[in-house]
Amino acid sequence: MTVDVGTELKAKHRAMWGTGDYPRMVETFLLPIGQRLASAIDIRPGSRVLDVAAGTGNASIPAARRGADVTASDLTPALLQAGAARPDARGLNLEWVEADAEALPFPDASYDVVMSAIGVMFAPHHQAAADELVRVCRPGGTIALLSWTPEGMLGDLFRTMKPFAAAPPPGVLPAPLWGSEEHLAGLFGERVAVHTSVREVLDITAFPHPQGYGEHFKAFYGPTIAVRANAAKDGREKEFDAALDSFCDSWNLGSADSARFEQEYLLTIGTRL
Ligand SMILES: C[S@@+](CC[C@H](N)C(=O)[O-])C[C@H]1O[C@@H](n2cnc3c(N)ncnc32)[C@H](O)[C@@H]1O
Repeated sequence: MTVDVGTELKAKHRAMWGTGDYPRMVETFLLPIGQRLASAIDIRPGSRVLDVAAGTGNASIPAARRGADVTASDLTPALLQAGAARPDARGLNLEWVEADAEALPFPDASYDVVMSAIGVMFAPHHQAAADELVRVCRPGGTIALLSWTPEGMLGDLFRTMKPFAAAPPPGVLPAPLWGSEEHLAGLFGERVAVHTSVREVLDITAFPHPQGYGEHFKAFYGPTIAVRANAAKDGREKEFDAALDSFCDSWNLGSADSARFEQEYLLTIGTRL
């Protein structure tokens, strides 16, 4: 019997992103990310915009508020449902579609703008996902990405978690590589003319104590919950917790009772040639 590893892997990812409470994380400190991406793009009333790995519509909703006709697509139906239930999603030209970023169910050249806020970076096969972004964007259209960087705090979170995680299947690359200018150049080659490539930071002050950041991730972030559960299989959850605590301390730019973090991302905008 042939086992379709791709489908099995996607089922795992869908379950992982549906675990915890990602919508709560967005409300707690991630809303500025979606607004930043949507405001960086030239969106006109009636622009056809595809948000890939849209989650609860963090970038889709601000884009639709600017008059765009938006498709919010994501692997995880529970997140799309949470997005559709957001009060600020009411009355907008916004469609919610379950879709794998590596096999988008949309025709070639069907969108004026294809964007993703800290989303497509989590599709496991980077080249397949990049090829799909290019395929569904019309020539002359815009591809816009906002991704955590490998050198920034989220890149370091994934490095901190790695020794406790199950080994990824062959061919799966680390998500924060999408925050590397060189990696993106390799994925898109001559097909996208990048005109904006800037590193910025998300300022996080939502957690009074530095370890509050780690506690929040352990409670609500699917990838952290999955890695900690894997550590627990070998009785290593205390070791995991200690590693996460010292990670939080090392990134704290505030004090012990008033934490502040800067989480770096790369904003990339280009024209599909
Ligand atoms: C960190 S969340 C970002 C969600 C949203 N863009 C935001 O700004 O809040 C990552 C998202 O990627 C989605 N995702 C992971 N793998 C995917 C895939 N292969 N295809 C489509 N979406 C995927 C998850 O379901 C999740 O919604």
